[in-house]
Amino acid sequence: MSNSNDHVTRNRAYWGTLAAEYAASADESWSSPEPRWGIWQVPESELGVLPDEVAGLDVVDLGCGTGYVSAWLARRGARPVGIDNSPEQLATARRMQARHGLEFPLHLGDAEATPFEDASFDLAISEYGASIWCDPQRWIPEAARLLRPGGQLIFLCNSTLMMLAMPEADHVAATDRLVRPLRGMYRLTWTEPSGVEFHISPGEQIRLLRRSGFEIEDLIEVYAPEGAATRYPFVDSAWASRWPSEEIWKARKWL
Ligand SMILES: C[S@@+](CC[C@H](N)C(=O)[O-])C[C@H]1O[C@@H](n2cnc3c(N)ncnc32)[C@H](O)[C@@H]1O
Repeated sequence: MSNSNDHVTRNRAYWGTLAAEYAASADESWSSPEPRWGIWQVPESELGVLPDEVAGLDVVDLGCGTGYVSAWLARRGARPVGIDNSPEQLATARRMQARHGLEFPLHLGDAEATPFEDASFDLAISEYGASIWCDPQRWIPEAARLLRPGGQLIFLCNSTLMMLAMPEADHVAATDRLVRPLRGMYRLTWTEPSGVEFHISPGEQIRLLRRSGFEIEDLIEVYAPEGAATRYPFVDSAWASRWPSEEIWKARKWL
């Protein structure tokens, strides 16, 4: 765990600069009739990320960004609450709510220390939110605090393999060489301007989840479907058709 939470301040500023770019794609994500996940937009029907039945579940979306994951859940009958550290991202989420006629609560705040009561949610979800931008030793225990016994945690992040194969330089795609040690991998920054990301090894992740009161249910590896393209520079579909570029963790809080 880092000693301070300076990454929260730095990531708020960074997301202030990224928000316009993400606003441009928000409407497409909000409009998608089926959830589509991650870099390759893989449909929910292929990945099975969400529980079969979400109607009536209280959901917290940790690092909800422009709110499309919460919107997908709300349309399936869940009661999502979003929290995000960026006023600009939340402004986009509010615009989307108005445009799509779908309302759910949105809070400005830090997903590592939320204002919500203990045991007030059935599902905690994070799609590239807290899952990479928050200190895992802070946000995973916070998710455990927020969940009711038996509640589920689902989060999507870059795969460990991709983080190891991605050159230091920005805008350079992962190669078939390992360029970063796994040992000690934790807090990562890139050439300025950059935010602060957190990526830990699968072993560390398993131990942290178990220490925080979770049983691990699944680790879904996400590959690029044939012919897929991405606007992101750090991976291409040739690479991701051989190795998973993303992973989805599912864990359940002990009863
Ligand atoms: C890629 S976006 C998430 C996309 C999101 N799944 C959506 O539906 O739009 C990452 C988000 O994480 C947020 N974030 C970064 N640090 C955070 C923190 N400490 N607490 C809450 N949100 C944070 C950023 O502000 C940004 O909106």
